[in-house]
Amino acid sequence: MGLLLSCSKSDNPAPDPCAGTSYNVQYFKSEAIGTSNNGSIIVTFPVGDTISYQLNTGSFQASGTFANLAPGNYVLTVKNQKGCTDTAQVTVFNYGPKYALVKQIITGYCGPCHLNGGVSGGKNFDTDNSIVASWDRIKARAVDNLPSQMPEAPNSPLTAVDKQKITDWVNAGHRQSD
Ligand code: HEC
Repeated sequence: MGLLLSCSKSDNPAPDPCAGTSYNVQYFKSEAIGTSNNGSIIVTFPVGDTISYQLNTGSFQASGTFANLAPGNYVLTVKNQKGCTDTAQVTVFNYGPKYALVKQIITGYCGPCHLNGGVSGGKNFDTDNSIVASWDRIKARAVDNLPSQMPEAPNSPLTAVDKQKITDWVNAGHRQSD
């Protein structure tokens, strides 16, 4: 008969104080527009006086706001009072000034039908690529009303000023950089 060994608690390594800490870091981001490095990242979760924030290898700071950012890829790190960290990858894109206005119009008027996963008429505008690729149909439906007006009720038609913003972007070359 062999000796039965049982594992006592003291045989286990000390519990990791960070085990189970996962913040699912959330943020609001705005893109760099034109040739200025004016992108920004604002952390919306987690927030609080025990959380500090870091962008790439910069120093940790108490504020969750990072402004004047160049376009590019960033690693956002949050750290709590125990030193536990969580990260998120953030890409700040470069928008041309005309595209930035069009993106604003789409975000403001084309949901929910074409945003947040909406695919009315087979079109979803959640990504910049999908907007750029649909430039001709966006102009047709939102500016020229071909074959009929967009957006539909309950939104009113776009104003003449907003229609002109789309036309200007299309005429400039309908790229993300325009
Ligand atoms: C209230 C819902 C709703 C809103 C808001 C809306 N759409 Fe649509 N859209 C639809 C539906 C439904 C269809 C499919 C039927 C059709 O084509 O009329 C569609 C189809 C489309 C199509 C594909 C068909 C084609 O003609 O190429 C495009 C492009 C489009 N919409 C652009 C837009 C743009 C740009 C906006 C915002 C300025 C917008 N829509 C706002 C409901 C909406």
